[in-house]
Amino acid sequence: MRTLIKNGTIVTAIDEFVGDVLVEGEKIIAVGAQLDATADEIIDAKGKYVLPGGVDQHVHYSFEFKGERVRGFETSNAAVAGGTTTVVEFVNQEQGKGMADTIFEMDKNEVAPQAMADYSYHAVVCDPVDKTFEEIADLPNRGISTVKLFMAYKGMPFHSDDEALYKALKAAKEAGVTVMVHCENADVIDLLQKKLVAEGKTDPYYHAVSRPARVELEATQRVINLAAMVEAPVYIVHVTAKSVMEAIRSAKNEGLPVYGETCVQYLMLEEDDLAKPNFEGAKYVMSPALRTKADQEALWEAFDNGWLNAISTDHCGFDWESQKHMGIDDFTNIPNGAPGVENRLGILWTYGVNTGKISRQRFVDLFATTPAKNMGLDHCKGHIGVGMDADIVLYDPNGSSVISNENSLHGVDYSTFEGYKQEGKVDKVFLRGKLVVDEGEFIGEKGDGKFIPGKPFALCFDDAQAAKELKNV
Ligand code: URP
Ligand code: ZN
Ligand code: ZN
Repeated sequence: MRTLIKNGTIVTAIDEFVGDVLVEGEKIIAVGAQLDATADEIIDAKGKYVLPGGVDQHVHYSFEFKGERVRGFETSNAAVAGGTTTVVEFVNQEQGKGMADTIFEMDKNEVAPQAMADYSYHAVVCDPVDKTFEEIADLPNRGISTVKLFMAYKGMPFHSDDEALYKALKAAKEAGVTVMVHCENADVIDLLQKKLVAEGKTDPYYHAVSRPARVELEATQRVINLAAMVEAPVYIVHVTAKSVMEAIRSAKNEGLPVYGETCVQYLMLEEDDLAKPNFEGAKYVMSPALRTKADQEALWEAFDNGWLNAISTDHCGFDWESQKHMGIDDFTNIPNGAPGVENRLGILWTYGVNTGKISRQRFVDLFATTPAKNMGLDHCKGHIGVGMDADIVLYDPNGSSVISNENSLHGVDYSTFEGYKQEGKVDKVFLRGKLVVDEGEFIGEKGDGKFIPGKPFALCFDDAQAAKELKNV
């Protein structure tokens, strides 16, 4: 089956031009101006942007918090409807089980039959025994090239201490596995939480009070130092604050291979959202906590300079009524995390591109191209080019809509972006050549998504090598 997408404005991370994209089967086989090609189907994309399908390198379809589990891959159509064709899922290692075994058991039972977006996996260290660190060397053979550790969440099975971090960084460096870290000082948060609850300060707003930016900064600086000790690259996930971004910037200026992402919510939402009445604030409980306008501005400025290189969602499909209410009497029991995978493109286009904060090229870079490189998926994902998977979004810049949970596919009862205006809309989405969104409607099927193995020695290692060479000059 051949499809010719004609006369669209093709946007890549470095350029933009009016042209055609020829798709055969699952791949893009030609890109150019006025392609002289025959096709089974010709789509006129005049006036529309032709974007690579998004890569969200930070999602949770299996996360559990105090016994509450997020919605799973049966809701991954939300990603695709929002223009994200590849998601990278964090899988918490089961105690006593290998990380890859945990992942592929889940893959077989829950993910492969239900996925509607392509997907890859991050291993998450939860059982810090020697065998776990030894397994890191083998992860790339199983298509897993990233491993995550949580410095936060004291007392939870997925919390890691400094010993685990150091051991993981050392093993990962040799294997070409990128270590990703959730940076917050777990001990201090624990102390602050206990103090606040003892004082009767139990509302959702105190979630932010118990997790000030400095707990994120301290942990970020600590892991930067640990990584420097073993000369390993490190990737800081969901950066929220100006000070944390600046710590990454300083490390880069020192020549250290330190990288970071932020998430849509940290660019758009604020600490004050946690103070909404009638327990609405619980919808905004996520970790690290939401910050201030000044932090948002600093994060937007980080992109053009490469201080942060991706925008993710940290998508967590927890229900407000049936799950977040667990913490009605004590904010520490509110499941952490919020949905967002469906809104990444629309929000970034409207509040980033259309306000002039980022160019269309930078948008594509942050939304698809660099996340694919970070994850070792850039051999087939994140770019409109010959030989790439035909993951293509046709974005119609005309018209506008308002985000409403009623029209969302993420399977929960709220959206943190409820009422936000969006300019333009996702018109069509192709997943490896298959039309899965047409005129804005999801028409794909469960099982359309497939596992895409990540390659080791990904972007963070390229730059690590470059930094080393620079030092040796
Ligand atoms: O609050 C959040 N972000 N929940 C998801 C797990 C994590 O910390 O990434
Ligand atoms: Zn996290
Ligand atoms: Zn997360």
